[in-house]
Amino acid sequence: MKVIRHIYEMQHFIKERKRRGDTIGFVPTMGFLHEGHVSLIEKAREECDTVVTSIFVNPLQFGPNEDFDRYPRDFERDERLARERGTDVLFYPSVEDMYPDGAGVQMKVTERTNVLCGEKRPGHFDGVVTVLTKLFHIIQADRAYFGLKDAQQVAVVNDLIDSYFFPVELVACPTVREEDGLAKSSRNVYLKDHERFEAPKLYQQLLRAKEQVQTGKALKDVRQEMISVLEDIPYGETDYVEILSYPQLQTVETFDRKLIIALAYRFENARLIDNIIIEEKL
Ligand code: PAJ
Repeated sequence: MKVIRHIYEMQHFIKERKRRGDTIGFVPTMGFLHEGHVSLIEKAREECDTVVTSIFVNPLQFGPNEDFDRYPRDFERDERLARERGTDVLFYPSVEDMYPDGAGVQMKVTERTNVLCGEKRPGHFDGVVTVLTKLFHIIQADRAYFGLKDAQQVAVVNDLIDSYFFPVELVACPTVREEDGLAKSSRNVYLKDHERFEAPKLYQQLLRAKEQVQTGKALKDVRQEMISVLEDIPYGETDYVEILSYPQLQTVETFDRKLIIALAYRFENARLIDNIIIEEKL
C-alpha cells in the first residue's frame, strides 16, 4: 500500500492506473478507522481494481462548538488497518493542501438539509459536499463507497453526484454494529462506561419503532413513544427523533413509501446518530 500526501502525486497515480484500464474504488473517511469503514474498503476491494481510501478530518464540516480539535486520530493504526483490509493507496492530504485559498469557494446544499443533522448542524453538509467535490475531482473514481449509518449524507451526496454530473456511482453499504447493536462510530471511544452501557438502547428503540410502523401504528405515536423512552435514559439527551420519507427526507403522515427512522443522542462527550430504513409495504 502506498501512502500519498500530495494532491499532484495522487492525480498522477490515478492517471497511470486509468491508462492501464483499472476501475477505481474510493472510500472517503475522516480516519480512526473501525469495522464500519473497513466494510466499505472490503466492498471496494471486491468490486474495483484499484482501491483508494482517504483520511482527511475536514474542518469545514465541523461547527464552531463541535469536536474538530478533539476528533480522534491515530494514523499508524489507520495505516495498518487500511493496508490489511485491501487499500492500494491511502490518500492523506493536509488542510493547507486541500484548502489552499482558505475555502474561498464553497458548495451549498439547499435540499434535505432542513431536517435531522442538517438542521442541527448548520453548514455541516455544505462542508461535506465541498470536500467531496474536491476529492471526487482528485480521485476520479468509478465507484465511491458510503455507509448508511449516515443516511442523510448518502441522500445529499447522491444529489451532489446527480446535480454536478460526477461520473461516479455511489455504493451505499449497511451499518456495521457492535454485538449489542450499537452502531460503530469513531466517536464511541468518547463514551464513558455508564454511557456505553446505555447506548445500545438507541438501536433497540429503532428496532422496536420499525416493528410498530410495520404493524400499522400511527407514525406520530411511534415517534412520541420513542421520545419518551429515550427520555428515561439517565444520561445524555435526545437531539432529534424523526420519521421521514427516504431519500427525500420529507415529513410523512402514513407508511406508504420508503421511510427512515433517525435519531441523534448527545452523551457528555459524544453525539451519536443512528437510523433504520424501512422499505415500502408490499
Ligand atoms: P467518517 O465519519 O469517517 O465516515 C466515513 C464513511 O464510513 C462514511 O461513508 C460513513 O457513513 C461510513 N461509516 C461510519 N460508520 C459506519 C458504520 N458503523 N457502518 C458502516 N459505515 C460506516 O462520513 C464521513 O467520515 C465524512 O463526512 C466524509 C464523507 C469522509 C467527508 O468528509
